Amino acid sequence: MLVGGDQAQACLRARLPTRPRMVLVGRSGELDPRWEIAELIGAEHVATLPAAEPWLVDRFAECVPTPVSGGVARIVAVLGGRGGAGASVLAGGLAVTAARARLRTLLVDADPLGGGLDLVLGWEQLEGLRWPALTDADGRVDAPALVRALPSRGDLVVLSWDRGDLLTLPAPAMAATVDAARRGRDFVVVDLPRQLDDAAVVALQATDQAYLVVPAELRATAAAARMVAAAAPHCGTLSVIVRGPAPGRLKAAEVARALGLPLAGTLRPEPGLCRGLERGEAPAADGRGPLATLCQRIVGELTGVPVTGAA
Ligand SMILES: Nc1ncnc2c1ncn2[C@@H]1O[C@H](COP(=O)(O)OP(=O)(O)O)[C@@H](O)[C@H]1O
Ligand SMILES: [Mg+2]
Repeated sequence: MLVGGDQAQACLRARLPTRPRMVLVGRSGELDPRWEIAELIGAEHVATLPAAEPWLVDRFAECVPTPVSGGVARIVAVLGGRGGAGASVLAGGLAVTAARARLRTLLVDADPLGGGLDLVLGWEQLEGLRWPALTDADGRVDAPALVRALPSRGDLVVLSWDRGDLLTLPAPAMAATVDAARRGRDFVVVDLPRQLDDAAVVALQATDQAYLVVPAELRATAAAARMVAAAAPHCGTLSVIVRGPAPGRLKAAEVARALGLPLAGTLRPEPGLCRGLERGEAPAADGRGPLATLCQRIVGELTGVPVTGAA
């Protein structure tokens, strides 16, 4: 008896094109697959259900299409040095920019108090699941299924909070999501809360690069120092992005030095961006302006994929 044998073979062959691997799957108690049969058909593994189910699920999970970045997505996290620093807007801008470069991108809202990251993109009307429908996701998440269930446009998929009752995001749900995203996407951006809960720590620990957005102000720098103390132990790659204006002429390099972190970039004031956000226009969508330019440089540096400006 072969259960899902054809699919398993096709899938595992696709994974190892030079050395086809075949799995003989049978149900325990009915007709156990035997090694003689396996040998006859050239199968390298015999899986007896239900005992072998976790192993089989893992093999299928490995068969998600290989991202263009060489197998694993780049994961970046964005934090705000103070409330309203511009972290969510930068997270949105990075995700939009990566998707414009045809990178399969997932934007993850990890801030339950942020009002919903879908709003930053103007996607609040878009069909698809939000966190509350996914918070039981504590096991392995099927990346393609996750992507199909979420709001999406082109290469960009968003996992956002909604505006319903406030819930706590279980850390295993975040772990499963990040794991699936790493295998199934090219670029992942996580928008983190300023109060790091367990789920945020899980995401932070998974990141390849984290950015702390700090307005060029004295008090914002003091608040950001608190954020550095909370975040730095969970990630070794934290750097600063300083956002203008600087009413007291505080320099970006001074902010970075005060925080003891490398300076990853600066953002000049962009009043048109605020107006666009209020109209539901996604940040960096037209590829123009200081935010778009910074996002293009960051995505290009992290992925090696050339990212161009306005179309
Ligand atoms: N790069 C930017 N240029 C101009 N205004 C910005 C920029 N980033 C954020 N803002 C303004 O600041 C507000 C708060 O930004 P947001 O990203 O939500 O902050 P945070 O997530 O750090 O709390 C936005 O609604 C927008 O008006
Ligand atoms: Mg935010």
